[in-house]
Amino acid sequence: MSVQQDVRPSLQTEGLSKAFGGVQAVNGATVTFHEGKVNALIGPNGSGKSTFFNIVTGMIAPDSGTVRFRGQDITRRAPHRICAAGIGRSFQLCRTFPRMTVLENLLVAVRPSGLGQLVGSSRNRRQVERARELLRRVGIDHLEGSLAQDISYGQQKLLELAGVLMGEPDTILLDEPAGGVNPALIGRIGTLVKELNAEGRTFIIVEHNMDMVMSLSDHIVVFDRGAPIAEGTPSEVQQDPRVLEAYLGV
Ligand SMILES: Nc1ncnc2c1ncn2[C@@H]1O[C@H](COP(=O)(O)OP(=O)(O)OP(=O)(O)O)[C@@H](O)[C@H]1O
Ligand SMILES: [Mg+2]
Repeated sequence: MSVQQDVRPSLQTEGLSKAFGGVQAVNGATVTFHEGKVNALIGPNGSGKSTFFNIVTGMIAPDSGTVRFRGQDITRRAPHRICAAGIGRSFQLCRTFPRMTVLENLLVAVRPSGLGQLVGSSRNRRQVERARELLRRVGIDHLEGSLAQDISYGQQKLLELAGVLMGEPDTILLDEPAGGVNPALIGRIGTLVKELNAEGRTFIIVEHNMDMVMSLSDHIVVFDRGAPIAEGTPSEVQQDPRVLEAYLGV
């Protein structure tokens, strides 16, 4: 049986485009990511990867094209509705609240107001428990009382990942999870991705660290100038001359 028969579509786009002034950031991108897999979206700087994430998560509207999630059209839906559909995401430049503690950062991830009340009330004790469990899971539970601004950048990335998990997404988009992170924490992030995927979560990861991409991914899509130029398994993509050309200009 061919591997392809096993593929179920997760996030799919068709003819997706977005220009900023004269810059065609995403250019008619037709892409399918696979449900239950670790997918990667790679490509040179400025090839439109973050813009693609911003469109599919509803942060910016496309000029044209469609986005479907498990077959359902989610084009131009508001971010909170896309989140409610089961898609969680992290940002290329980490988004944490620097003057809140690590634990508080997770609690605002689920409820944006009334923090003092939230921590104290028994109604929300479950959320606090869940936040602590996720901090243990990503390995920064010993930092729960520290201000986010006082922990390392890699630890902030782990905090952001825990924040994404607070929303219980079954599909997780990570924009450069290893960017600016030391090798030991990169290893931990990779292990977490593998574990969470084994539990059934789908990943779509934008990343420049090729060791991480090649060791983690089941399926890789390569972007150049706003559209896919190649896709396949890590070994297929590594041998593709179009990919070498896009990266090295050879
Ligand atoms: N808000 C914006 N306004 C104007 N131009 C933008 C905006 N966002 C992105 N661009 C431009 O669109 C193009 C694609 O940018 P994007 O950030 O999506 O690339 P990327 O693949 O994520 O790059 P990198 O790997 O460096 O993060 C770039 O030329 C960028 O300068
Ligand atoms: Mg980017």
